[in-house]
Amino acid sequence: MNHVLTAGQFNKQSLELILNTAGEMEKQLAPGKIEKKLQDKVVACVFFEPSTRTRLSFEAAALRLGAQVISAENAMESSSAHKGETIEDTTRILNCYADVIVIRHPKEGAAEAAAKVSTKPIINAGDGANQHPSQALLDLLTVKKELGSLEGLTFTFVGDLIYGRTPHSLIPLLSHFPNNKFNFVSPQSLSLPQVYKDLLKEKNIAFAETRDLAESLKQADVVYMTRVQKERFANAEDYNKVKDMFLLKPEHLKLLKEKSVILHPLPRVNEIDPQIDADPRAAYFREAQNGLYVRMALLLYALGLL
Ligand code: NCD
Repeated sequence: MNHVLTAGQFNKQSLELILNTAGEMEKQLAPGKIEKKLQDKVVACVFFEPSTRTRLSFEAAALRLGAQVISAENAMESSSAHKGETIEDTTRILNCYADVIVIRHPKEGAAEAAAKVSTKPIINAGDGANQHPSQALLDLLTVKKELGSLEGLTFTFVGDLIYGRTPHSLIPLLSHFPNNKFNFVSPQSLSLPQVYKDLLKEKNIAFAETRDLAESLKQADVVYMTRVQKERFANAEDYNKVKDMFLLKPEHLKLLKEKSVILHPLPRVNEIDPQIDADPRAAYFREAQNGLYVRMALLLYALGLL
């Protein structure tokens, strides 16, 4: 079995295996062709934080592969966590009922703590501001499908780079592919944590931190917008100061290269004007669709079936 806890666990080979399998899943999903490889399996989705895409696409992925799903949404309230049960004890119980466990939790390191005691594979569906590996994998697949390559690209990450867990997973994955460059556009107080900058430095990957959104958009092959993570702020005042600092507006579209792509892990609040949705470069809904294929691949990977 394979736990899926952090982007750092993947090398180029395992990434390619998952992306290729996701491509295969997309093909097989054509009516009637899907192999029900998880027929006798039970997948548990236990979410201690809100989710639309991640939970429902993991559940859909499980069902498409023939598995049964047990699910706790709003688990902070609806599970025994509310009574004070530890994540370790909850995991021990889930081990009795399910073959693979998908967990989202507000605390950094929660999935890792679960994995330490688990006899079944744990998939991290987001742990606080730390990691969100399945999202990064589907982001990777989307770039590959939209632009035909994962190399030699300029990525402009915009928004909340300190609390946004999706860049924290995507940047390490992209560091496996040669000749990419990065622009990080954020308010000073939301800039990328040092550990990710150190990783890029170590690998001699060029990056710049800037507040010049227009210039960074001109250079971008991939624009990766993020939501300011309101739930991670200590007070409303700090959030209000930065929440609308970098928004993508229709007038920005003319700055972008003709062959480029706009991503957003979603949900968007105010980061991308809905008028942009009709632009062919706006790929965020296709990105969410790719989540289904990637999560099918990840369930197979976690269960050691790839
Ligand atoms: C993201 C998350 O939960 O980190 N959402 C998602 O899974 N697609 C991004 C966010 O909430 O802003």
